[in-house]
This record gives sequence, C-alpha cells and structure tokens, in this order.
Amino acid sequence: MKFFLDTADLDEIKEAASWGALAGVTTNPTLYARVGGKLAGFEDHIARICDIVGPECPVSAETVAMDRDQILEDGRRLAAIAPNAVVKVPTMVEGLAATRALADEGIRVNMTLCFTVPQAMLAARAGARYISPFIGRFDDISEDGLEQVANIVEAVNNYDFTANTVNGEKMEVIAASIRSANHVTQCALMGADVATVPFGVLKKMVKHPLTEAGIESFLNDWEKVK
Ligand code: G3P
Repeated sequence: MKFFLDTADLDEIKEAASWGALAGVTTNPTLYARVGGKLAGFEDHIARICDIVGPECPVSAETVAMDRDQILEDGRRLAAIAPNAVVKVPTMVEGLAATRALADEGIRVNMTLCFTVPQAMLAARAGARYISPFIGRFDDISEDGLEQVANIVEAVNNYDFTANTVNGEKMEVIAASIRSANHVTQCALMGADVATVPFGVLKKMVKHPLTEAGIESFLNDWEKVK
C-alpha cells in the first residue's frame, strides 16, 4: 500500500515528505480553500507541491468545470504544471467523457467522488489512472464506506484495465475520505493500492502506546548500563 497525503498545506507536505514514506499528494477545492487565502494562485500552489514531493510522486489537482470541453481544457492546463501533476475529475457523465479524452492524450486522471462499484467500473473503462472511493462521506450518510471500497477493489481486480490507462500503467484504487488509522488498516487488508490520509491521521498511524512505553523503558534501562 502506498500513502498519499490528503492536504494542500505546504508545511504538512514538507513534514510528511521528510518522513520517507510519502508517495503522493491529493488535493481538492476544499483543502485548497483552507490554505488558499495566503497564496499566489492555485496553479502556482500545485507547482510548489509537485516540486516539494518530486517527480516520482503524483499530485492530484481537481478541476471544477462541469462540461467536458472545459474539464478537458482545465485538465490540459493542470497536467502541464509538472510531470507529476494528475488531473482530478469528479465521477459524472461529463467527467467520464473528459477523462477518456485526457487519457487518450496521455494525461493521468484521478476520478474522484466515487461511491459505488458501477461508478468505479465506468471510471476504469474511461481510462482513469486512479479511482478514489470515499469512505468517511459514505459513513456520514449511514452507509458502510469500508465495505464499498472492498467491493470496488474486488471488482476492479477482476479485470485488467492496463490497455485502457495512460502508458499501460496499472489502474490504482485510492481509498479517500479516510478519517482514522483503523480505516487505513482495513484498506490495507482489502488490498487498496493507495490510502490518501489527512496529516492528523498520518501522525496517529505512527503511534502506539506500547511503542512509546517500550522506548521509554529501553531508554531508562540504557541509562543504568551505558
Ligand atoms: O481526497 C478527498 C477526500 O479525502 C475528502 O475527505 O474527509 O473531506 O470526506 P473528507
């Protein structure tokens, strides 16, 4: 499983990147709005994120257009920001059409706001490089977000979409809208390719009380014999 950071906060990204386990970043308009007030502009901000994480780490930047031609135009512009920029497109008819066109041009798309197996299958067929099912938001409406991701992982793994994606790369499922370290555990067990996590969850993932107690006792004992 790879870990992406779900944030637009440059300090969080720098810190997480320094930990050595970060493989990408996902953003959305809400995350950008949280930090956007102090910045030069969206595209400049995405460029800075792409630069911080480096060319091997994909950075998803979301389009907000609602018609396919505008999504296509925005997608081309966002993809041109950096080689690791990925265009995030909502799962909807216009988004599917634009995804197909972007993929045919060699542009990687992350289809977002995906909640069902049929949506995921359509996204995969349209050439999405990534599919992002949301867990927390599904839980929020009294559905089972984890079960839905498990179903999506199982369904997409029944097929080979490589002929469909940019450069024949493997299509990957990004478990998104993650709210807890246990979400990460369950996603890893079900074989989700990627978990995109807020920085707060990433910090919790590192910690365990027995790890902390063990470090403390080892340090105390070392003091006695060093
Ligand atoms: O990547 C977008 C997704 O992770 C949003 O999460 O917590 O706002 O539902 P949340």
